[in-house]
Amino acid sequence: MSMRDNVPLVQTVGLRRYFFSKPGFLARTLAGQRERTTKAVDGVDLFIHEGETLGLVGESGCGKSTLGRVIVGLYPPTAGQVLYEGRAEPGGQMIFQNPYASLNPRHTVRQILGFCLEKRGVPLEDRESESVRLLERVGLTALHLDQYPRQFSGGQRQRIGVARALAMRPRFIVADEPVSALDVSVQAQILNLLEGLQEETGVSFLLISHDLAVVHHMSHRVAVMYLGKIVETGRTESLFENPAHPYTQALLSAIPRLGKTKSARIRLQGTVPSAVDPPPGCRFQTRCPHKMDVCVEMEPRPVGVKGDPGHVVWCHLRA
Ligand SMILES: Nc1ncnc2c1ncn2[C@@H]1O[C@H](COP(=O)(O)OP(=O)(O)O)[C@@H](O)[C@H]1O
Ligand SMILES: [Mg+2]
Repeated sequence: MSMRDNVPLVQTVGLRRYFFSKPGFLARTLAGQRERTTKAVDGVDLFIHEGETLGLVGESGCGKSTLGRVIVGLYPPTAGQVLYEGRAEPGGQMIFQNPYASLNPRHTVRQILGFCLEKRGVPLEDRESESVRLLERVGLTALHLDQYPRQFSGGQRQRIGVARALAMRPRFIVADEPVSALDVSVQAQILNLLEGLQEETGVSFLLISHDLAVVHHMSHRVAVMYLGKIVETGRTESLFENPAHPYTQALLSAIPRLGKTKSARIRLQGTVPSAVDPPPGCRFQTRCPHKMDVCVEMEPRPVGVKGDPGHVVWCHLRA
């Protein structure tokens, strides 16, 4: 193993992304509202190696999409850094949940891919042949070049979304709920396409999904996110077979097929608290069935799970 193999392809260091919102005049004067800060991503350290898929799971609103967008450079970080092979250069492409919303309805596939190829510096005379190559790679053909997004099925549209990402020859792709909007019968086709691309090219994925079966099937490692923070990470098998964080245990207990734990379903109280005013100490304390005094007083530090390298949990119970 060379030195380079030890440097992750992508790494985030203390990454934060806050959204600041100014209330309107009425809210300010009548309701006395002040500026609000949504701490969507609040101190995330993770890494992804070449050829690896890191699955990112967590309930809606916990900051998954924001994290993905900051990592590929669509949003600037509020604090912290994203490193590509140890350098602070933006890189990576994004595949979105809803290909229909992310493809301009007035542009043909030729135009959509052409823009990307132009950005990559592919000369005009080579763009058609390169576009056809991209289409064939995602299971479409030259016949689709002059069609508009509305003329395609959902699955085909997502294939165009994948081709568009590939047009930039990325080594890293954030796939944000890439199959959530698709019929179940089509989901596997798109997931197989992504897996095949990884085998061929060694591209790395951050795979964001609320579907744990999808993440279990696709990921080498998994990170569990709760209210702007990672609460547990580890190899997929370890994390699914031996979840250490009460939040992960609750998530997995909802799908007994996957988790080997025979325990009954753990029902979490309430919903995810607001990222505007996260609870002190451990953010999960307001819903945790094992809450202790220290959980309110101190933020948990990362603890390695014994006998399982790379399996790390942020929980006072394990300290
Ligand atoms: N562009 C934005 N402006 C303001 N708040 C946002 C924006 N995007 C996301 N948020 C807020 O950040 C938090 C995390 O959202 P998001 O990253 O979309 O979560 P997830 O993808 O896990 O559902 C939520 O509270 C959401 O309302
Ligand atoms: Mg999202």
